[in-house]
This record gives sequence, C-alpha cells and structure tokens, in this order.
Amino acid sequence: MLHTTNPEILLLKQEDVVKAGLLDMKQILAVTEKTYSMLGKGQIQNPPKTNTSIPEKTNWQSFFNAMPSHIAGDVNIAGIKWAAEAKKNASIPGIPYGIDITILSDPETVLPFCILDGTLITAMRTSAVGGLMAKYAAPSNADTAALIGAGVIGRTMVSAVHEALPQIKTMYLTDLDLSKAEEIAAEYGDSLGVKIIPTTDSKGAALKSQLIVGETTAREPIMDSSWLTPGCAIVSMHPSEMAEDLFLSAEAISVDYWKQMKEHMNPLVKLVSEGAIKEDSLIDLSELVLGTKKLRTSDDQYVTACSMGLGALDIMIAYQMFENATKMGIGTKFNLWDKPLWE
Ligand SMILES: NC(=O)c1ccc[n+]([C@@H]2O[C@H](COP(=O)([O-])OP(=O)(O)OC[C@H]3O[C@@H](n4cnc5c(N)ncnc54)[C@H](O)[C@@H]3O)[C@@H](O)[C@H]2O)c1
Repeated sequence: MLHTTNPEILLLKQEDVVKAGLLDMKQILAVTEKTYSMLGKGQIQNPPKTNTSIPEKTNWQSFFNAMPSHIAGDVNIAGIKWAAEAKKNASIPGIPYGIDITILSDPETVLPFCILDGTLITAMRTSAVGGLMAKYAAPSNADTAALIGAGVIGRTMVSAVHEALPQIKTMYLTDLDLSKAEEIAAEYGDSLGVKIIPTTDSKGAALKSQLIVGETTAREPIMDSSWLTPGCAIVSMHPSEMAEDLFLSAEAISVDYWKQMKEHMNPLVKLVSEGAIKEDSLIDLSELVLGTKKLRTSDDQYVTACSMGLGALDIMIAYQMFENATKMGIGTKFNLWDKPLWE
C-alpha cells in the first residue's frame, strides 16, 4: 500500500517491465489468483470500459479503451489501462497491433506514481487467466493439451498452462500459419520439459487432448462439439470462436467476470439472453478461486470456461512490477511539477 504526497512518477519502459520480472509466469499467476480472490470478496471496483473507435464502432480502423479500477484491501491503489489497437499497424513493421499503457495512482492524494508499458502485461495476464481457468477445468488425468492459435497470447499460453498444470507433458500448438506455431515451439525448445508439437490440424489436436485452449482471432465459431472427447475441457480467450453447442452441452460453464461479459455480445451472452442457459448457473472465476463453487465434480464431465478480460488485473500486475522495479532501482523518474502553479 502506497501513500504519497510526492509528485514523482516512475516511468517504466517495456524493457524495464521485463527486467522487473513480468515474464515470470509463476508470479503473474499468483497475482492473478489474488486479483480474482479480491474481486470475489468485493474489494475491487472495475467499472465497464469505455470505447472510442475511429472513425466509428462498426467500421473501426483504430480504437482506444479506457479501463479504470480501484483495488482496495491490503493493496489500495487506483489505476487505468489505456488499451489501443490499430489495424494499420499490422502492415507497419516494428509496431505492435495492440499498444497499451498503464497509469497507477495513489487513491488518497490522487497523485500518479507510475506510468508503464502495458502491452506485454496484456499478453501475460490474459494467458494467466487461461492457465487459471484450465487448472479448474481440466480433468485430473490431463496430460495433453491443444492450444489453438499461435499468436501473442498463444506464446504466453504455453507457459501459463505449463505453470498451472505441470502434469501436461504434451502440447499441440496449432495455427492456420504453421510457421507461427513452429517459431514458438522452437523458442521454448526443451526449456519447460514439455513436448510442443506445431500443427495446422486444430481439430485433430483437440481430439487427442483432454484440455483445449482457444486463443485465435477467429470471430466466427471454429470449435464445436465434434471436437470433444469424454471428460475434456475447453477454455477460450474469446468466446466468439466457440459454437453455441459447446455451451449448450457443457455440464458447467465458468466466465472470468459475468457482470462485465454480459455487456458484450458473444454466443454465451446470446444464449443467456434467449433463456437457453440460466444466468445463475454460470460460475464466476472468483467463485472457483474462493472455493465457493466447483466447475468440475468428476473426470467424465465436459466443462468449459471463457474470458473477455479484466482491467483490474492489469493494474494489479502493473503494481507488482512497480514494486519489483522500485526494489531493483529500475526506471526513470519524472516530476509532474517542481511546484504546482495553482493549488
Ligand atoms: N480475454 C482476454 O482478456 C483477452 C485479452 C487479449 C486478447 N484476447 C483475445 O485473444 C485472441 C488472440 O489474441 P492475440 O493477441 O494472440 O492475436 P494474434 O493475432 O497475435 O494471434 C491470433 C492467432 O490466431 C490464429 N488464428 C486465427 N484463426 C484461426 C483458426 N481458425 N485456427 C487456428 N488459428 C487461427 C492467427 O493465425 C494468429 O496466429 C484474440 O481473440 C483476442 O481478442 C483476449
């Protein structure tokens, strides 16, 4: 918990955030678990994100999402993630498609105390949620996983699933573009003690796995119930890639934060709005973390979990990076003013 009357801001560029330990998936999973526990205890305010799309929402070329939150409890910080994407960036070498920045502020004096790159935090926190969901969803005998989509999130999902479920010793990593999966498999090599098999045959990989994790950019369903084997689990980072029958046939469904997800259209939200799935049957990830509900009660059930993202998690991870960087003496300091002109 930090209280400051000092107008000093610590600037952390991406390289600083990496030095501060962002790529340590074990630590990111621990922060993720704590965040969902605090969310479940009502210690987090995470108001809906506001979107500014350019030129407009239906035909966006770029957009900016403002994602504020306040974390109470023993953390007590406020912050905002300013998350942006530009379609043009896909054709400009050297610029990521999505670029995020995070500001942390003291909730008592409202002084900002840290501004940091949030781009890699997004990848790490998204896959950490996938890993955490996989831990609750996978059957106890799971030793093989199919990770569908070898992009930014696919890369970090390998380590998230490994940290959350170390018993998984084989991972199929699939993509429409085989070279992307091959590149990530080569990057990991033998470092995790997991056999990573790149392939374009996503359904074939799914049928050989007890855990399927989707992290594609597909906006039409690519997975359906013909991908299921008895007792398997599906975790998805964007429910639009899941066919409706995957929700209708599930024994239980978990979501990262229903209060937020229901504001956005996707196949699950549609089924709930039509009454095909009861809203009160959905299990929030925070209930799984707090142990008040279970997603799976036997190894022969098919269960699923999906996520849309939680801004408060970016703020929690950013704060952990601020604390690590401060201890390590990393970053550049900047004063908001020498003396405020008007008080
Ligand atoms: N839930 C969250 O918090 C959260 C946060 C960030 C991103 N996401 C979502 O995660 C997904 C992946 O994001 P990313 O940044 O890794 O994108 P990315 O563009 O880096 O990678 C996506 C990959 O999916 C592959 N792909 C597309 N369609 C496919 C298909 N039918 N079969 C196999 N592979 C296919 C693409 O070739 C690409 O390699 C997106 O849907 C994104 O919106 C979710």
